[in-house]
Order: sequence, then structure tokens, then C-alpha cells
Amino acid sequence: MKAYTDGFFSIDPNHGFLPIKEPLLHLPVAYQELQQLIDEMPIQKANGIPGLLAKECAFEEASKALPNYLNSVVKEKDTFVLAALFRSYAFVASAYTLAPAHHQFLATGKYGNAHSILPKNIAQPFVAVAEKLNVFPWLDYHYAYSLGNYQKIDKQGSLEWTNLSMAAKFSGMDDERGFIMLHVDINQYSPDLIKAVFGVVSYTNQNELSDAVALMANTLKHMNTRRKLMWKASRWKHYNDFRVFIMGIKGNDDIFPNGLLYEGVWDEPHAYRGQTGAQDNIIPTADIASGVIQYYPDNQLTKYLMDLRQYRPKCVQQFFEELAEEMHQKSLVERLKENNNFEGMKQLMQVYEEIYFFRNGHWQFVQKYIMQNTAYPKATGGTPITSWIPNQIKAVLKAMHVLSISLEKDPNWDKNSWQESYNRKVELLNNQLKMLSIDSYNPKKIFSLNKKFNMLDY
Ligand code: HEM
Repeated sequence: MKAYTDGFFSIDPNHGFLPIKEPLLHLPVAYQELQQLIDEMPIQKANGIPGLLAKECAFEEASKALPNYLNSVVKEKDTFVLAALFRSYAFVASAYTLAPAHHQFLATGKYGNAHSILPKNIAQPFVAVAEKLNVFPWLDYHYAYSLGNYQKIDKQGSLEWTNLSMAAKFSGMDDERGFIMLHVDINQYSPDLIKAVFGVVSYTNQNELSDAVALMANTLKHMNTRRKLMWKASRWKHYNDFRVFIMGIKGNDDIFPNGLLYEGVWDEPHAYRGQTGAQDNIIPTADIASGVIQYYPDNQLTKYLMDLRQYRPKCVQQFFEELAEEMHQKSLVERLKENNNFEGMKQLMQVYEEIYFFRNGHWQFVQKYIMQNTAYPKATGGTPITSWIPNQIKAVLKAMHVLSISLEKDPNWDKNSWQESYNRKVELLNNQLKMLSIDSYNPKKIFSLNKKFNMLDY
């Protein structure tokens, strides 16, 4: 496999999924007024004073004075400037359209309608810069909200979330920073994930293959340890302070009943999916490389996950396609099985364990941060959240089961203890699914259940 790059990201063992260098904090002075709007935007500004989004209609009013930078944007060639411009326009477009939904939520506890027209001075340069980056003109995970939005506080320091701040923000509060900067923190280990994946594809002997699978398992384990810090990094009760601003148009018909008209660009309204961790690359990469993807159910969630591939930079899409092609020729299980590589198989079981822990823990995020906070049943990406996520847990359990059959030939395989732990996972999932089928289910019960099965995520 090769390096997949667009000049901002380079999917290789040095950079993983993070940008090749720190994203720009500010736009060049030529875009001063756009930068000013970004700085004035947050509900709480950097100096602690309420910003434009704190007051109803204030952001919409202020954005009227924004010059139309279309002519300058189309001439831009520097990818880092283009990424910062995309991020800025994505924030402005979401803030502008979703401000009324936010204020309605504060007043009534229900999301109100968003503005259905994006004014020309925002729409035209936004679409132009999106075309230059070859992405949809809406807030995304890569260039805008997460990976392309971090700044190290101590420039010599680490990529841990406590040392990261956001270049552009909606709420400006610590829970927003903790929430999205922890995604960047988890991705600090992604170079090793790519190294492992490249190893799985181009090994010269079975020892090398086992080492690559072991590296994948260890990396996912580190990532899971970091992921669990979410409970501390961002308090679940504060998720709604910023959540509405990352909502999409597509699938969120209550908020955007008629899509969004990009004034001066298209005559018909358009609709795009919202920013979501489902646009992150770690779990899809692990699923493709390990073979879990073969067990994805044939349902709407799988279609949605595939649809989300288009919401990623082209270089990431190409990486996924080529990896999938490679693994399709011969799956990882087959590569190990044909050589009776039991060590590699046991490492692969560890990979599955970590994907399972990720998904079961993540499921608890969804229960607490979303279900316990609001009755609105759609996620920011536009999915019906209650029922979808556990489906992917089933895929991991199936992959585990199939691999365990091959491991039975290994005299050193401790089948009993594996089976016991597997049965508990199946029972936990079945009980969780049963709870969800009740209309008035209580998210707190999901936690009691996970506690009972010793699977509480915090
Ligand atoms: C409080 C924290 C989080 C919440 C509330 C949350 C919420 C959600 C929701 C509701 C979905 C359903 C799809 C959609 O967006 O419409 C989803 C999917 C997903 N999220 Fe998260 N998420 C959180 C943290 C994370 C983190 C830290 C990552 C990885 C870095 C992540 C990765 C994913 C992935 C890969 C999916 C696709 C489903 C799957 O493959 O299992 N999420 N998330």
C-alpha cells in the first residue's frame, strides 16, 4: 500500500489520520472579518464574555456584514489555508442556520426549526472552498470540527486532550473542547494502526504477520483507554450545550423540514449529513482489516456507514477502498489459518475484543450523552440512535465466534474461559436489545445491566 495524501492529511505510518502538521489557528489577514466572526461566535468567548450565539438573532445579524470573499477563495492554493477556510465557513453556516434551533431548545427543551436559506455571502465562498477540497459544503469531522481544528496549548507538549484547544468553537466551554479534542487525542495512536494495517497487507513471513496483528490489538487497547476518558473530558449533562450545532440537514427533517437553500449557488435546496464520530476512521479501518466488516448486517445502519464514506477526504476514501480490495482477495483469518498461525489468531481475537469494548462502551456514551438528555430520537448524523448502534456489536460477536472455531485446533487455547466471557457478551447484548424494544425504556437500566455484567465503561 502507498501513502494516501491530499496535502493536509497523509494516511501513512508517520501521520496516521491526523493532519501532517498542526492546523492553522487563524485565517490569513485577507479574511480578517471572517476570522472576527469566528472569534465572536461562541456562546462563551475566550475571555469568558458571552459571544454572539448567546443572544437570539445576534449571530444572524452580525453575519450580514460579512464580505463575500468568493473571489479570493477561488484563487487560494495552499491546502492548509483552504482547510482553515472550509472550517470557518462550516462553523459560520452551522451557527447561522442552527442558532434558532438552539434558542428554541433553551426555551422549550425541544429543537426548533433551523433557517432554511444560507445567505449568499456565506453560501458562495463555502461551496467554492468545499469544491476545492472535494467535500460536501457542511460541517465535517475531518477538516472542520475535529481533526482539522486542534491547537496544542503547550506547543512542545503532547496530543492529550488536556493540552489541546479548539481553533473554532460553538459553545466555547470546556465540555465541548473535552468532547471533540478527545477524538484527536485517540487519533494520536493512529500512526501505529496504519503501521499495523500496512504490516497485515505486506508481510514476508508469519512472524511478521503476527507482530502486525499484535500491534493492531495493542494500539486499539491504548485507544480504548483514551476513549474511556470521555466521561471525564466532557460531562454528559453538558452535551446539549453544543450538540445542536453539529446536526446535519439530511435525516434531521424536524430541524430542516425543507433542506437548505444555498443562496446564489443552486436553485434547489440541498441536504447533507451532520458531523459525527461515525466519520472517524479508526473503527472502520479495524473492521476492514480484521474482517468484522464481512459480518455487518444488511440493514439501514450499514447503508448509513457506507454513505458516510463519502463524507471523508478523498485520500481516506481511497485508503479504505484499496484496503478493502486487498483484504477481499484474502481475509486476515484466511492468511492466518492456512499457516496454522495460532499466535496470530489469538492476537486477532484481542483485536475483536477491543472493537467490542469500543462499541459496548460507545453504546453507553449514546445512552448517557444523548438518550438521557433528550427525547429527540435522531443522532447528529441523522440516524435513529436507539436501535442502530447495537447492531454493529452483533457483527463483532459473529467474527469472534467464527475465529474461535479455528482456534479449537490450538492445544493451548483456553476455550472454556473464552466461551464463558463470550456468552456473557451475548447475554448482555440480548438483554440490552430487549430493553430497547420497550417504548418507554429507561437508559439508566442499560447502565445497571452493564454494571451487572462487569462491563461498565467508567
Ligand atoms: C460522548 C461521546 C460520543 C457520543 C455521544 C457518540 C454518539 C454517536 C452516535 C449517536 C452514533 C450513531 C451515528 C450517527 O452519528 O448518526 C455514533 C456512531 C459512531 N461513533 Fe460515536 N459518539 C461518541 C464518541 C465517539 C468517539 C470518541 C469515537 C471515535 C473516535 C466515535 C466513533 C463512532 C463510530 C465509528 C460510529 C459508527 C458506528 C459504529 O461503527 O459502531 N464516537 N456515535
